[in-house]
Amino acid sequence: MKVITVLGARPQFIKAAPLSEALRKKHQEKIIHTGQHYDYQMSDVFFEELGIPKPDYFLGVGSKQHGAQTGEMLTGVEEVLLQEKPDWVLVYGDTNSTLAGALAAAKLHIPIAHVEAGLRSYNRQMPEEVNRVLTDHVASLLFCPTDQAVKNLKQEGLTDGVVRTGDVMADALYFHAKRAEERKLAETIQYKEKSYLLATVHRAENTDDPNRLQAIINAFAQIQGQIILPLHPRTKKLLRDRQMTLPGNVEVIEPVGYLEMILLEKGAELILTDSGGVQKEAYLWQVPCVTLRDETEWVETVHTGWNTLTGAKTEAIVAAVTHYRQNPLPPYLDKLYGNGQASAEIVTAMEKRG
Ligand code: UD1
Ligand code: UDP
Repeated sequence: MKVITVLGARPQFIKAAPLSEALRKKHQEKIIHTGQHYDYQMSDVFFEELGIPKPDYFLGVGSKQHGAQTGEMLTGVEEVLLQEKPDWVLVYGDTNSTLAGALAAAKLHIPIAHVEAGLRSYNRQMPEEVNRVLTDHVASLLFCPTDQAVKNLKQEGLTDGVVRTGDVMADALYFHAKRAEERKLAETIQYKEKSYLLATVHRAENTDDPNRLQAIINAFAQIQGQIILPLHPRTKKLLRDRQMTLPGNVEVIEPVGYLEMILLEKGAELILTDSGGVQKEAYLWQVPCVTLRDETEWVETVHTGWNTLTGAKTEAIVAAVTHYRQNPLPPYLDKLYGNGQASAEIVTAMEKRG
């Protein structure tokens, strides 16, 4: 098979790492990097650390309004597809790069494989929800990492090409955990295990609305203990533009590479996040997670008790942290996101479909 993979944003590089490796054992893959994320710490670091092959095409689209950004990517991806004529276009998750890749392929009648299909927040205000619904409806193979995702697709009439696999992010974590532990944290970020909380905040719904961002900051101020915050450039910019300040217990660091991030997660007493990937990783490390959103696509983490949804409500965030501190959870054995073989399962399903 000849596969064109479209990547652009941080979580997609991490998802692509294990699958590219599995795919390239027997097939030809070329990578298009849209340039949606471009800072060294948001892009190159992952290619270097995780051994992802260098992109064959770099579109350099950068930061723009949704329409302009998606439109430029669509034009750029289409040109490559016309030239390369692949058997498959592979897209990941729910970013503007995902949608652009899927639309470009759909218009040229090239089959699309969507990794992380079927996830739903049922909140159409989120740009990610629109991207994932549209991508699923033009995809030929829909790789679902959870049973809930399969059910969500069924409700929308999608059953053909739906394949339940493990989660490629679990593959990445299981594969790199040992390497990360051996490598240890950089000297610039040394923290004692379980003596800090880890936070990430970048969702448009939390950052674009100053009231929500302020409510999260107020919660951080009320939480006892040090909070390490690898700050997403989006949030950094908005905090600076609005001259919002962070409380003294919040230690801001630059976004970190994947190996450092998963070590920071593992060593955290608790995680506070609005990230999709970080919620799952918290579960995989058995670290309690407080999710700063009103809903989540990863509902099973909430059902198990390891994740609590608080929205951007100061009191709810503080209460969730207190609850986890007073009620430690027993370790669990279930592997919600598979046993690290999702990438191999995906390649097999693509081969069968031909
Ligand atoms: C995007 C995805 C989101 C995903 C996130 C992962 C969409 C609609 N959103 O959100 O689903 O969870 O990536 O991190 O696709 N910026 C930089 N340097 C960079 C990248 C971004 O400074 O390398 C700043 C720019 O000011 C930019 C802002 O961050 O305007 C937002 O970037 P963008 O890619 O549009 O959205 P994200 O918030 O990163
Ligand atoms: N991540 C990272 N460095 C950071 C913050 C996050 O490597 O400073 C990783 C994290 O471990 C997870 C992924 O990035 O694998 C999640 O990406 P992000 O939160 O940007 O996007 P989302 O998952 O919400 O779409």
